Amino acid sequence: MEKIAIYAGSFDPITIGHLDIIQRGVKLADSLIIAVGENVRKKYLFPLEKRVELIEKSVSELGLSQFVKVKPFDGLLVDFAQKESATILIRGLRAFTDFDYEYQLALANQDICGRIETIFLIAKKNNIAINSSLVKEIAYFDGDISKYVSKYVIDAFKEIKNR
Ligand code: PNS
Repeated sequence: MEKIAIYAGSFDPITIGHLDIIQRGVKLADSLIIAVGENVRKKYLFPLEKRVELIEKSVSELGLSQFVKVKPFDGLLVDFAQKESATILIRGLRAFTDFDYEYQLALANQDICGRIETIFLIAKKNNIAINSSLVKEIAYFDGDISKYVSKYVIDAFKEIKNR
């Protein structure tokens, strides 16, 4: 049976930290779905369609398009996972400070649907300090984000500035 994994997140915007998890995640399953969702606790800079587009382009640049599908979802992640016949949820863990939230999320998902397992991938050392919020802050103050994101994301920030 095909093993399908889901890597879900807000990806506002996708960073090299996310891309590293995607590169490693594709090795864990026959196919990987990047599920782009809404975290009710967050406000987003980029609309959902733009976040999806930036993931697709960034993934394609790495030559991973054939292993990865990018899909928006709403509602519960485990419902989406079941609809897609996925059995694994992948989450990245950067620092100990991520753990409390990630633990709660994994427990909630386990409680709602015990058939789906969450797997945590530890971020590479170089990516520990990178997250989408910091990238947005650096970009807001015209700092250099080229180390953290793909050229497509840099262009997307430029489009916002030029509006
Ligand atoms: O990148 P994020 O913001 O940490 O991603 C969080 C996301 C979107 C994966 C999470 O908020 C989510 O799964 N939202 C959908 C609703 C849901 O299933 N919540 C978990 C059970 S309470």
